[in-house]
Amino acid sequence: MSATVLSASVAKTLDTALESVASPVRIESATKRFKQGPTTIEAIRQVSLSIADGEFVAIMGASGSGKSTLLHVTAGLTWPDAGNVFVAGSDLSKMCDAALTRFRRRKIGLIFQSFNLIPSLTAEQNILLPLMAEGAAAGQREQLDALLERLGMTSRRRHRPDALSGGEQQRVAIARALITSPAVVLADEPTGSLDSVTGQKICQLLQELCHEQRRTIAVVTHEPAVARWASRVVVMKDGQILTEFSTAEFGNPHALAAHYQDIVNAPGAES
Ligand SMILES: Nc1ncnc2c1ncn2[C@@H]1O[C@H](COP(=O)(O)OP(=O)(O)O)[C@@H](O)[C@H]1O
Ligand SMILES: [Mg+2]
Repeated sequence: MSATVLSASVAKTLDTALESVASPVRIESATKRFKQGPTTIEAIRQVSLSIADGEFVAIMGASGSGKSTLLHVTAGLTWPDAGNVFVAGSDLSKMCDAALTRFRRRKIGLIFQSFNLIPSLTAEQNILLPLMAEGAAAGQREQLDALLERLGMTSRRRHRPDALSGGEQQRVAIARALITSPAVVLADEPTGSLDSVTGQKICQLLQELCHEQRRTIAVVTHEPAVARWASRVVVMKDGQILTEFSTAEFGNPHALAAHYQDIVNAPGAES
């Protein structure tokens, strides 16, 4: 190999490495299809999206617009039928099942509407679960204590989920998502099972974690009251990204909600 070719290849590797540090999530033209009886649905169609390091993005759209599918593809819960999904520099679309499971455990923090806690385990055992799967829970005591403290859950650490409120259960789920220090935290309708006041507190907490700890977070929601905590809103429609905007453009949540309604109701947005 000539010196020129070698330096070009080193430069390319360096570029890719720098890009993956700057953008922990990079989705390139991802398509995911589902068969429903005789028809095939494209749940997402050639979607491209990058999320910057330390960015908090909200993915909005009506029910059925493809939000969860986009999140699942980003999380490595499923493969795209076409396109590439890079998380922390690795292409998830090329990974086998076992590699994807390992990758997901280490690099992706997942938060769901339904909390998904194990009922027989205490709050702290639930939080440590992703590390136990790696056989590494013992050395993480300090990190666990710091997380419990930060989330205001220290006094509840030995409680089982059925002794915790919805908001507390979601805090446990957030701590479980953060304990591995993932490259990206992905949440699907994280406030969907909570009353609006508790939901707003959870959103505020996610925003604070994003700022204080430079976490990269994507939240799927159909509620403007949730999306307003993000810095950027990506709007989906019929499996594609319709548009996106910065929340900084809006002085209050009502203005943001009105803008979102205008986008969704615009004549060009009709299917
Ligand atoms: N596992 C699946 N099997 C069949 N169809 C699916 C599946 N998951 C999603 N879909 C379809 O893909 C489209 C997008 O769904 P989804 O990503 O769940 O949207 P959203 O989260 O925005 O409500 C819908 O038409 C839905 O019915
Ligand atoms: Mg959904």
